[in-house]
Amino acid sequence: MNLLRPMLEADIDAVVALIGMHDEDDAEEAQRFYRVLNGCHGQFVLEEDAEVIGATGFDAPTGCDQSYWITWTYIHAQHTNRGLGRKMLTELFDYLQQQGGRKLFVKVSDYVDPEDGAIYAAALHLYESMGFSIEVQHDDFYDVGEAQIILGMRLQQEQEHSPVAQQQVAIQFNEIFEIGETEGSWSFGWHEQKGGGSNAPFAAEDLHTGLGAVREEGARCVFLSFPSNYAGISEPLIASGFTETGSLKDYYADGIDELHYAYIFNQKLLASTPE
Ligand SMILES: CC(C)(COP(=O)(O)OP(=O)(O)OC[C@H]1O[C@@H](n2cnc3c(N)ncnc32)[C@H](O)[C@@H]1OP(=O)(O)O)[C@@H](O)C(=O)NCCC(=O)NCCS
Repeated sequence: MNLLRPMLEADIDAVVALIGMHDEDDAEEAQRFYRVLNGCHGQFVLEEDAEVIGATGFDAPTGCDQSYWITWTYIHAQHTNRGLGRKMLTELFDYLQQQGGRKLFVKVSDYVDPEDGAIYAAALHLYESMGFSIEVQHDDFYDVGEAQIILGMRLQQEQEHSPVAQQQVAIQFNEIFEIGETEGSWSFGWHEQKGGGSNAPFAAEDLHTGLGAVREEGARCVFLSFPSNYAGISEPLIASGFTETGSLKDYYADGIDELHYAYIFNQKLLASTPE
């Protein structure tokens, strides 16, 4: 690496401070990521005159073949628009490609700050100009009016492969949780029993139980995602009022996408309100 060096524990305070220049909530979440969830593994900083002025990194999701999420990526507010973000990301993407990286994903919000405007607009522009394209958009994800946009980009050409067979899977929902960084977006935890079910992977009744439980907690929306090679996933979700919000192409492996679904409580309530 040329511009970037691996991030150390001693860099965390400086990185959190530079993230806080852009968004205080992000700084808090990033702090938890560095100190509790992930540590500094796969994280890098950019220094100028012995000062940390940039940060970026990656996280490899479990169960996926050479897919990477791009993690907290920030340039010090007094050093933006000097081309450093593009150089920093180019170096990171080259590194991941050399490691055999197949596909990259990144999440961006469309938040418009009352004073600072669309604070992630530069990031969206940068990612799209570097070859990413939007694969999933979850409206009202972080909060009402604030969408989550997920972009993806291939690092390697797709290899020839035989069609991926659909698997019969029995899915059991085992928890409900509010999604981090959101106000009122919930999801269900689940585990699978391969070869378990010969019919639908789960009953609509199971979904209704989960929807009832999160509604009690004040959920606005529910977001779920499943591998595209699980047979019969869509039917019970659509029948229960979920909508498809897109798919992360080749997320698990070439030919196996991640399918995304959303259920919006408010719309359902409005739709059922008598005129
Ligand atoms: C995104 C970020 C890392 C980019 O760093 P940077 O050093 O400013 O990036 P660069 O100077 O290399 O490039 C910025 C690009 O955004 C463009 N840009 C700047 N402000 C913009 C805006 N409001 N809307 C659209 N494009 C914008 C610039 O013109 C430039 O594009 P170009 O190279 O095609 O001319 C930095 O802006 C940042 O820290 N933003 C806040 C945090 C963030 O959004 N992080 C990513 C979350 S996933």
